[in-house]
Amino acid sequence: MRSKKNSNSDRSYPMELPDKEVSSPQVQQKFAKDVLEGLSRLPKSLPCKYIYDKQGTDLFQQIMALPEYYLTNCEIEILKSYGKDMMNMIGYQQINLVELGAGNGEKTRILVQELMKKKAEFTMIPIDISQWAIDTFTRNMKARIPGIRIKGLVSEYFKGLRWLSNQNKQSNVVLFLGSNIGNFEPPEADTFLSSLWNACNDRDFLLIGFDLKKEIPVLLDAYNDSQGITDLFNLNLLSRINRELGGHFDLEQFKYQSNYDSVSGSIKSYLISQQNQSVMIDKLNRSFSFETGESIHTESSTKYQLEDIEDLARRNGFSIIHHFFDSRRYFADSLWQVTK
Ligand SMILES: C[S@@+](CC[C@H](N)C(=O)[O-])C[C@H]1O[C@@H](n2cnc3c(N)ncnc32)[C@H](O)[C@@H]1O
Repeated sequence: MRSKKNSNSDRSYPMELPDKEVSSPQVQQKFAKDVLEGLSRLPKSLPCKYIYDKQGTDLFQQIMALPEYYLTNCEIEILKSYGKDMMNMIGYQQINLVELGAGNGEKTRILVQELMKKKAEFTMIPIDISQWAIDTFTRNMKARIPGIRIKGLVSEYFKGLRWLSNQNKQSNVVLFLGSNIGNFEPPEADTFLSSLWNACNDRDFLLIGFDLKKEIPVLLDAYNDSQGITDLFNLNLLSRINRELGGHFDLEQFKYQSNYDSVSGSIKSYLISQQNQSVMIDKLNRSFSFETGESIHTESSTKYQLEDIEDLARRNGFSIIHHFFDSRRYFADSLWQVTK
């Protein structure tokens, strides 16, 4: 066994302490650089990871509770039905349970409860770009699972992977749930998975969630809820620019729109300018012009079929252990193992 024994403790060790409502100067600097780059190119785009400040993280919690957003319930069903089988396949040896893009930990708790039942010795390591997500995750997990050993890391995925690769030879079980993989454009998904492979030890496991291709109206409804929460979620990119970079976006002058691109198999989300306008961003000392109908791409959410998932695993060095589906086969959690 490659693992070292952990001392038992329920202390959490956030690498950066949860802050107030504005990001750290380093995060703001990178944000400014990415906004400048994204709004200077044509077509314009903004990285979706910047949606997740406090407001965006709160809005995502609301999205997960929407009836149209089937993804959450499907994955909860899978984890409740097969969590025990998954953990039996993985084994209950000493592990780091590492979750990338962890969110609030509602789903993770199902697997953690399995580990607790078996008295497995493990450390939970949620990694998320949002300090509010890490804060909520840690608070919820400690309230519901007393004695859990948890170390939160506020970090972008790739920095989190660098951190992981510098760890000792403890066995890792990496969770990448909620169809986070779908937010990467296909070449980025390969880059991400090969970096993950490099950061992992031989025989480590990855449990990864995929939203599957299905009837297009079901897909469209999930990204066009009747309460308009998804609109606010996407518009939060512009609100955040206003809050943190001294932007002057009038949110009434941009409308959220999404469509399904059947060539890439992806829901594409946009903010569309409602008039010819020029918007100043003070911290960039620049204004950006938008024509009526011009779009800012805010998010891609790629949908997969089984063959895509299997190709993705194999060409990035993972062996497929098992695919788990919900009863409607809307969603899959796929268990892979690193082979080196
Ligand atoms: C769609 S939510 C899913 C949350 C959780 N995995 C679930 O299934 O409920 C995406 C999560 O990933 C985080 N995230 C998005 N982009 C990220 C990035 N580039 N690096 C690290 N975390 C990221 C967000 O803050 C958010 O908590």
